[in-house]
Amino acid sequence: MNAKELRKAYVDFFLKHGHAHIPSASLIPENDPTVLFTTAGMQPLVPYLLGQKHPAGKRLVNYQKCLRTGDIEDVGDSSHLTFFEMLGNWSLGDYFKEGSIKMSYELLTDVLKIDINSLAVTAFEGNENAPKDMETYHIWKGLGFGDDQIFFYGMKDNWWGPAGQTGPCGPDTEIFFDDGRQKCSPTCGPSCRCGKYVEIWNNVFMEYNKNADGSYSPLSQKNVDTGMGLERVAALMEGVKTPYDTGLFVPIIEKIEELSGKRYDEHVKDFRIIADHLRAATFLLGDDMGVAPSKMDQGYILRRLIRRASRYMRRLEIDGCRMADVSRIIIDRYSDVYPELERNKEFVFASIASEEEKFNKTLDRGLRIADRMFEDLGDTKVLSGELAFRLYDTFGFPIELTKELADERGMTVDQKDFENRFKEHQERSRAGAEHKFKGGLADCSDETTKLHTATHLLNAALRQVLSADIMQKGSNITSERLRFDFNFDRKMTPEEIQKVSDIVNDAIKAGIDVVCEEVPYEEAKRCGAIGVFEGKYEDIVKVYRIDGVSMEMCGGPHVSNTRDIGGFKIQKEESSAAGVRRIKAVVGQF
Ligand code: SER
Repeated sequence: MNAKELRKAYVDFFLKHGHAHIPSASLIPENDPTVLFTTAGMQPLVPYLLGQKHPAGKRLVNYQKCLRTGDIEDVGDSSHLTFFEMLGNWSLGDYFKEGSIKMSYELLTDVLKIDINSLAVTAFEGNENAPKDMETYHIWKGLGFGDDQIFFYGMKDNWWGPAGQTGPCGPDTEIFFDDGRQKCSPTCGPSCRCGKYVEIWNNVFMEYNKNADGSYSPLSQKNVDTGMGLERVAALMEGVKTPYDTGLFVPIIEKIEELSGKRYDEHVKDFRIIADHLRAATFLLGDDMGVAPSKMDQGYILRRLIRRASRYMRRLEIDGCRMADVSRIIIDRYSDVYPELERNKEFVFASIASEEEKFNKTLDRGLRIADRMFEDLGDTKVLSGELAFRLYDTFGFPIELTKELADERGMTVDQKDFENRFKEHQERSRAGAEHKFKGGLADCSDETTKLHTATHLLNAALRQVLSADIMQKGSNITSERLRFDFNFDRKMTPEEIQKVSDIVNDAIKAGIDVVCEEVPYEEAKRCGAIGVFEGKYEDIVKVYRIDGVSMEMCGGPHVSNTRDIGGFKIQKEESSAAGVRRIKAVVGQF
């Protein structure tokens, strides 16, 4: 069974058990400021785990794009991945421990054909927040598990969540594949790192909410949240040792072999880092909410991934900027499952190439300077935070790159000092950015409201003139002007700019009513309303309709008739980031 068949087998199994298949949400969480990325399938479902009704019902199943950045530096070993897919099923106040465990058991043994003797499971040993989970123990026992296959652990191993600072969480039961080798010590068990036990599935019994003050309160409903790592189980099903040996990675590895003229088995770590980081970068850029490399937040993580991969490509002596070639293979392999990659591919290629080029320009010089810095260290063997920050600030060296250079020379870096300097620097730029854009949509004056409606007309006109694939990549409105970023990979011609302006001005002159409707999400989607849909499951969404021109999901506010905008003028069309253009425009009587 390969990964594609595994996704299907998983979803089909839970469909058969009354679950609804929901799409993978964006990698960039929309309504959760406590996390940068979607790290688990449950994250977009938090409102429903807390009790809101989900339109698709109480039983859900999906595969979800996830990204975890905690262990970027561990990537290169056989199991850590930055980007991964999570297969998951949920009960929102429906079945609980028994239903969940029995279905997991049936899927593992009947569908995936894993022998019960190759499985081991864990349960929560209990503490002041929740009792020892004997119910879970008895259910596994009832299914035929021996006492030597059931292990109790504490908070660290058998409590999951919340995903951010606060939110739903609870005790879990984890399921492991036991490869049959001898225990490495008498205490060896699933929590041991010797490799005998590979975690394949986690069933969380989410019945608590962690509050901001650190306390736990019971949720109004008892939920189940499960997660199975697709890549790991695919390796098991394909009978190979690591995810990198599965069909998901082999074509990527082969492409790197072709580009470098070197063999994977002679440079395992370098190949894995390149393949992992470029897969993560491709999915981040290819998301409908895709981000471009930058100095902040998600954009900064993306930049680190691309730059670290770039340095490893350099180590393999791959000449020129070839990352987009690797991305192309990734998109080819994945776009039947994640069609957004195909939709956004020009943006992916352009952004990756431009970031790679930018970094390549300074990489050699940076490496020479870093060399000198390390030579000058003498006996201290610790590179100061100040010098590490200088490498970052002048040459764009992410901290893990500097740490790796230190490591190769038997030296270390004062990372804490680096991080303090980095934080200070980020806070300064953030304050600058906030100051610059003060008075965005939070300010609902007449002017900003007009500009907001004009933005919808502009979005629609661009789709008409340039391509139906145009997507909003950013929008910012002040009382003076609108600024709209969209995916497009070349300068617009003066004729195109004129055409877009004409369409907007014609709509303004036509005096069309701006109608706000509150409709079920599915219906909005069916009617072709634009906006980023994936993973939004509020029962009802607001759609602003400007008949014959635009229909867009949005929170408002808007003018009531397009005539109120007065007139529209594009002041500037320029590049914003690789593959992203920016239009600045004003409204009024001209
Ligand atoms: N949320 C749990 C996890 O990430 C189960 O999906 O492991």
